[in-house]
Amino acid sequence: MGYLKHAKMNTSFNLLQEEIKKCTKCELCKTRTNVVAGSGNPQAKIMLIGEGPGYYEDQKGVAFIGKSGQLLDKILAACGFTREEHVFISNIVKCRPPENRDPTPAEREACLPYLLQQIELIHPTIIILLGATALKGLIDPRARITKERGEWRTWHHYLVMPTYHPSALLRNPSLKRPAWEDFKKVVAKYRELVDPNHFSAHC
Ligand code: URA
Ligand code: SF4
Repeated sequence: MGYLKHAKMNTSFNLLQEEIKKCTKCELCKTRTNVVAGSGNPQAKIMLIGEGPGYYEDQKGVAFIGKSGQLLDKILAACGFTREEHVFISNIVKCRPPENRDPTPAEREACLPYLLQQIELIHPTIIILLGATALKGLIDPRARITKERGEWRTWHHYLVMPTYHPSALLRNPSLKRPAWEDFKKVVAKYRELVDPNHFSAHC
């Protein structure tokens, strides 16, 4: 990408992030502490999409920093990916649903345009969907994560890998092995399409 295009993208992306941080388009704005607009490298080739902020994310305004986030960091480290360089992390809804309930259809619908704009501006090579809400919310409300995880699919010219949400791995450790297989496929695809020399100690 040329220098000018980069600069334009950065401006549009920063404007979008600022707009999200001020948003009052759904009821969740009333109970949130902070908007979690997404974090990482907006020029990254991998985008990770979760469900929505939990308690710690709401407190700090940063995606995936609670228990699930710590596990996600370990998985990313095993893949040789860092948040600063290789990924951008976002969610289906940017404000925490009270008591961590599932976001309602109205909330998801209100928030989805932000995610779609983030995807268009970041233009990742690989999108990783973390869990059922991300899979259903972005791609197909009838899709089942247990059936679709681990298989590449394409969505609007993007390569998508659905896998389990880290919180599912914490609840059910037997899912860790299949999830790791999914991430190994991501690393292989990253080497194929982005960086043949990508180093990771574990795969
Ligand atoms: N779970 C999510 O889905 N997203 C976060 O940002 C944190 C926990
Ligand atoms: Fe706006 Fe999304 Fe927050 Fe609702 S969840 S207030 S749509 S940013």
